[in-house]
Amino acid sequence: MQNINYVMGIETSCDETGIAIYHAREGLVSDFIYSQAPLHSPYGGVVPELAARDHSTRIMPLIQQALMHAKITLKALDGIVYCAGPGLNGALLVGATVGRTLGWSLACPTLGIHHLEAHLLSVMLDQVQKPTFPFVALLVSGGHTLLARVSDVGDYEILGETLDDAVGEAFDKTAKLLGLSYPGGPALAKLALQGSTDTLSFPRPLYNTTHLNFSFSGLKTHVSRYWATIQQTNQRRANVAKAFEEAVVDILVEKSVRALKMTGLNQLVIAGGVSANQLLQATLYKKLEAVHSTLYCPKPRFCTDNGAMIAYTGFLRLQQGKTDNLDITVKPRWPLDSL
Ligand code: KG4
Ligand code: ZN
Repeated sequence: MQNINYVMGIETSCDETGIAIYHAREGLVSDFIYSQAPLHSPYGGVVPELAARDHSTRIMPLIQQALMHAKITLKALDGIVYCAGPGLNGALLVGATVGRTLGWSLACPTLGIHHLEAHLLSVMLDQVQKPTFPFVALLVSGGHTLLARVSDVGDYEILGETLDDAVGEAFDKTAKLLGLSYPGGPALAKLALQGSTDTLSFPRPLYNTTHLNFSFSGLKTHVSRYWATIQQTNQRRANVAKAFEEAVVDILVEKSVRALKMTGLNQLVIAGGVSANQLLQATLYKKLEAVHSTLYCPKPRFCTDNGAMIAYTGFLRLQQGKTDNLDITVKPRWPLDSL
């Protein structure tokens, strides 16, 4: 075990600039996020070039802010870690370049962190309610959807994953179809609260399979065809949002319960942006209670992208003695089970 106290985490994989500082005994001492959502909203999705440019203007002021809040200077850091992938190439390079350069100039260890590993471990940032290894994790974000057995830090077995669209992507595309602005997931969930699905139900692809893979692109296409054929009203828009959300939640809950059964485990962790979804959380709580299992959800702030999960994962990895060389390379594609 290495003696590591302060670790700064940098997250720039997509459209959030996140800077956090984690301390071995005090926990999270700084956590700042700058969201680019308003920048990308007029385009209906993330524009990679704009994302990279915006990270490069936000990152240094956010680092200053994080250090001031923690009442330390750069010299106090025992490690600087950054998200090295998966994500957008240009956006990742901003965090990697700043992290490695600061590390080099301060002679401080640096480490590239896997974005999905950080999501999987984000629930551990909770001081009160955290799971113990091993557990099953359902990771549902804008770019990824998977179920994994998490046996320890760095020991991940993929049990199932999406064969096409990620859940968050399906939420965002369906939201766009219904005329909602980016990011669509939270907006669609809000609209669904006004909907009624007494006479409307959408298909649940791959619901009854023995494997744990997912598929959401057919559902998205089905919704889009249905929406194009009906007379569109505000009430029907809300009904479609609700029926879509119900179909997705049903699939995620069914597969998660199957994963618990298959592994013989009784703890489920949910992570990633879509894990903030209230219907998903409420349905899982109820369903897991019935099968004598426990659900662990990160706080809403830690569901979506943030620097805290990167700082914390980096802290654990540096403690294990993991370091890497000073190359500034990122991995826009990076399989989790290659760790
Ligand atoms: O984990 P995340 O912040 O970024 C990625 O790593 O992709 O996830 C972002 C995704 C977006 O697709 C967003 O629409 C979705 O999470 N999301 C939600 C909710 N909050 C965020 N989807 C459904 N319901 C929500 N409440
Ligand atoms: Zn993410």
